[in-house]
Amino acid sequence: MSTERRRVALVTGAAKGIGHGIALRLATDGFDIGIVDLASQRNEAENLADRVRTLGQGATVISADVSDQRQVFEAVEETAGQLHGLDAMVNNAGIAQVKPLSEVTPEEFDQILSVNVASVLFGIQAAARKFRELGVRGRIVNACSIAGQSGFPMLGAYSATKFAVKGLTQAAAQELAADGITVNSYCPGIVGTSMWDTIDELMSRYNGLERGATMRKYAEGIALGRVETPEDVAGLVSFLVGRDAGYLTGQSVLIDGGMIYR
Ligand SMILES: NC(=O)c1ccc[n+]([C@@H]2O[C@H](COP(=O)([O-])OP(=O)(O)OC[C@H]3O[C@@H](n4cnc5c(N)ncnc54)[C@H](O)[C@@H]3O)[C@@H](O)[C@H]2O)c1
Repeated sequence: MSTERRRVALVTGAAKGIGHGIALRLATDGFDIGIVDLASQRNEAENLADRVRTLGQGATVISADVSDQRQVFEAVEETAGQLHGLDAMVNNAGIAQVKPLSEVTPEEFDQILSVNVASVLFGIQAAARKFRELGVRGRIVNACSIAGQSGFPMLGAYSATKFAVKGLTQAAAQELAADGITVNSYCPGIVGTSMWDTIDELMSRYNGLERGATMRKYAEGIALGRVETPEDVAGLVSFLVGRDAGYLTGQSVLIDGGMIYR
């Protein structure tokens, strides 16, 4: 029997959407999973934990707000304690805002910066500290977006947060390379999750289109001809935390079915 320690991944915003897909895929890959999401998503998170255990992997559920540094550090501590290690940190949780820049309030801008950017900073800090303590050459993977590669109208504040994630990813990759820790991001396109339901609904208030029409309009620009699924994104994350990506760091990798080209 192998005495190799089981690998452990923490995924934030895992109760639904892309994070849910990533957690299930990494469990299939053989990771035990720390499932982190808001307390309001506890039931969904517990259901996911049951599915992870059905796959033969360990799971622990932690309710935390990732915009709070202390809660992120505690989530990492608890995951590593309960699942006996930490090998990968997926800073996935995020929110969208739909508004022309002229209408964005200081409070809204602070909120989206906290949830989408500060959370990634805290996740990098907490994971790096734990990897160093454990002597693990860990992987950090952050949620960026096509909106982190190109500014999108009506999503200006959101785009700014994703450009910031790209910057954090590049800087962290260089700072942590000496410890053998890699830092990368995934940049999805139009993924059919509740986030896009919200974007579609809010966009319709401005453009007058019926519900679903905004998403269809964006989807027409996808070369591969279909909306992205959480599983599409999860495949890339699986690679980024897997054995074949050891020489890849500081990159924000587009996975958008062919929408923007860099
Ligand atoms: N859906 C897309 O088309 C798309 C495209 C590119 C990038 N992304 C990014 O991918 C990530 C996941 O998006 P999604 O579409 O799955 O969104 P989603 O809204 O479907 O799910 C997001 C999850 O994050 C959790 N969350 C939100 N704020 C949190 C907080 N403060 N603390 C802890 N958990 C929190 C939510 O409860 C939810 O479970 C986000 O960072 C998003 O910006 C999404």
